[in-house]
Amino acid sequence: MIKAIKGTRDILPPSSAVWNHVERVAREVFRTFNYHEIRTPIFEETALFARGVGEDTDIVGKEMYTWEDRDKTSLTLRPENTASVMRAYIEHRLDQVVGVKKYYYMGPMFRRERPQKGRYRQFYQIGAEAIGSESPIVDAEVIEMVVEILKQVGLKPVEDVAGDDKEGFRLLINSVGCASCRPIFVAALKEKLRDVAATMCADCQRRAVTNPLRVLDCKIPEDQPIIETLPSILDYLCRECNIHRNVVETQLWNRNIVYEVRPRLVRGLDYYMRTTFEVTHGSLGAQSAVLGGGRYDGLAESLGSRVPAPGIGFSIGEDRLVMSVSQTGGEPVYEMDVFLIDMRDLAYVRKVSWEPGERDGYGPEVAARLRSCGFAVECSPDSRLKRGLELASKQGARFALILGENEINEKQYLVKNMKTSIQVKIPFASFDDLVDLFKRK
Ligand code: HAM
Repeated sequence: MIKAIKGTRDILPPSSAVWNHVERVAREVFRTFNYHEIRTPIFEETALFARGVGEDTDIVGKEMYTWEDRDKTSLTLRPENTASVMRAYIEHRLDQVVGVKKYYYMGPMFRRERPQKGRYRQFYQIGAEAIGSESPIVDAEVIEMVVEILKQVGLKPVEDVAGDDKEGFRLLINSVGCASCRPIFVAALKEKLRDVAATMCADCQRRAVTNPLRVLDCKIPEDQPIIETLPSILDYLCRECNIHRNVVETQLWNRNIVYEVRPRLVRGLDYYMRTTFEVTHGSLGAQSAVLGGGRYDGLAESLGSRVPAPGIGFSIGEDRLVMSVSQTGGEPVYEMDVFLIDMRDLAYVRKVSWEPGERDGYGPEVAARLRSCGFAVECSPDSRLKRGLELASKQGARFALILGENEINEKQYLVKNMKTSIQVKIPFASFDDLVDLFKRK
């Protein structure tokens, strides 16, 4: 038996309907904020992620699916998409397009992490990037947009559910400074870690040397009391970073967006500068981050661009978003509206030439008209009434629409409400009445 590879999974109905729902909502919100879709390849040159995401990050260090192609080029399945979007931006000279460039994407990403609930090796992100402006107003708008997506898919901010962490999401924000103030903070952090790192987990001991900021990101419970004693980046921000941070916060405040400042929120990718943010949802358990994002001025230059391309964006973990939506009861219910049972015999089904009026009530035509009105219609594969009704009931149809010799002679549809078992007849000529009946919930 060949099975799906560890850390990957099949997304099956009815769950796939929730995936469609969140994607549809996200696309609609993106449209209203003037974002347009960008699709980049799912594999790129390894150097893109090594330089973009950072050599010392967990992602590049141990989680990438990398292989040597036949021509010896090192290729990697994308572990994230911001570096790819920036590569496309530089390659296609998108800096020459007027205004802030706003892109969104959805698709699979690949990281070789230890699989657990909410953590997969192939997972899906819905993300957006706004490139071409350093303005903190863009930061606030990006955050406003992501909060809007969460609300429209049916999630609630924690303050709307009486602070219940299992029911609501929290928006966490921070600033990680810039190239001028962060090194001073990192030096102070390193200094302090020299005293305490030996008492921390093995990963932190390594990070204390290779990438001290990552220590702040450690999730091991025993390390948390020590992390609390480490310096806070907010005490080290330069004047410009402080102004930027203040404007972002004021803008969020003015937009009625509730947030919590988390000075230890550094995120697992190296390209961030100034604003970083995350949204967590208590229903998710240990892997509680539904999404993460931040500003990445300087990423373009590190990828070899001579033209600066300041930007900010986020990626929603779609697997986790779907999980939260399902667990908080916000998923849409998709029902089959009509199960059509055409009982006419084979001679009728094989007929190709018709007398005027003879085709009235022809099953496939009725189904097509109903579908064009937006109803989900299933045509019975069986012309026997009993078998058809059995299927309609088992598949959860709202109505059965029956077309037999009697109905054709009387020129009317026989409709059975599958919940109440009430049957009505509607003349072929009153198709609108049929539509009205199916519209009633
Ligand atoms: P990230 O924090 O690495 O950021 O990932 C964003 C989100 O993807 C996480 O918050 C989580 O919901 C989801 N995610 C990450 N890894 C997994 C996994 N193994 N299984 C399931 N879900 C996962 C980025 O990827 C950045 N590109 C975000 C960004 C865009 N920053 C600026 N623009």
